[in-house]
Amino acid sequence: MRAHRIDRPADLDVVRESYDRVADNYAHMVATTGVGDIRRHPWLKASIDVFADTVGDLGPVLDVGCGPGMVTAYLAERGLDVSGVDLSPRMIENARRLHPQCRFSVSSATDLHLEEASLGGVLGWWSLFTLPRDVLPQVLALFARALKPGGHFITGTHVGDEDVARTEAYGGVPVRWTTHKWRPEQLVDLIEQAGLHPVAELRFPAAEHTGPSVVVMAERPA
Ligand SMILES: C[S@@+](CC[C@H](N)C(=O)[O-])C[C@H]1O[C@@H](n2cnc3c(N)ncnc32)[C@H](O)[C@@H]1O
Repeated sequence: MRAHRIDRPADLDVVRESYDRVADNYAHMVATTGVGDIRRHPWLKASIDVFADTVGDLGPVLDVGCGPGMVTAYLAERGLDVSGVDLSPRMIENARRLHPQCRFSVSSATDLHLEEASLGGVLGWWSLFTLPRDVLPQVLALFARALKPGGHFITGTHVGDEDVARTEAYGGVPVRWTTHKWRPEQLVDLIEQAGLHPVAELRFPAAEHTGPSVVVMAERPA
């Protein structure tokens, strides 16, 4: 496969350091409050279940930006050949501690070396919003090439127009990253431009502790 070079986000190192700092709190939050835990959110769980049913045994599945590995482990439990990758080494330490039966590695979505048509599924589950607006299309193109025909991509992200500069997160920990919110139609356009065929879109209104969000699933055409 021709090397697929992706522009390095200028803030990649500070984003990594920030997620390293919040990693323990984030893992604790998922485990104790249920925020971010698909098992406690029926529509999110349903989306992941449909994804799992669809990719089935089509090929390996990669959970990009897996954090402490909750979705990776859920998919592994369902019998998928799945591994997780994350920018933050501390997130991956938590993932390995919590889910020692699963495979995890450290990498930015922008540094992945993926063979063409090698994957049955790819997830970007609330993990692609830190990518600059001009970098996300490059990552989506990488994912599209890496999927086998019939393979699926699923992503969930924050909805809006703004670029929100985060300065603290998950229990008041100082951080520096930008949350690039996307309008669902913009995101779907980008996914289509990357060469994928959107098959489902699920919108969530703002709730007590979260803003509006969207889940999109798309297929690499045969
Ligand atoms: C909100 S957490 C979501 C984690 C996990 N997907 C979940 O649902 O619990 C965002 C994750 O994206 C990761 N992340 C941010 N930028 C990334 C990048 N460029 N490449 C890979 N992972 C990244 C962070 O380290 C963090 O673990």
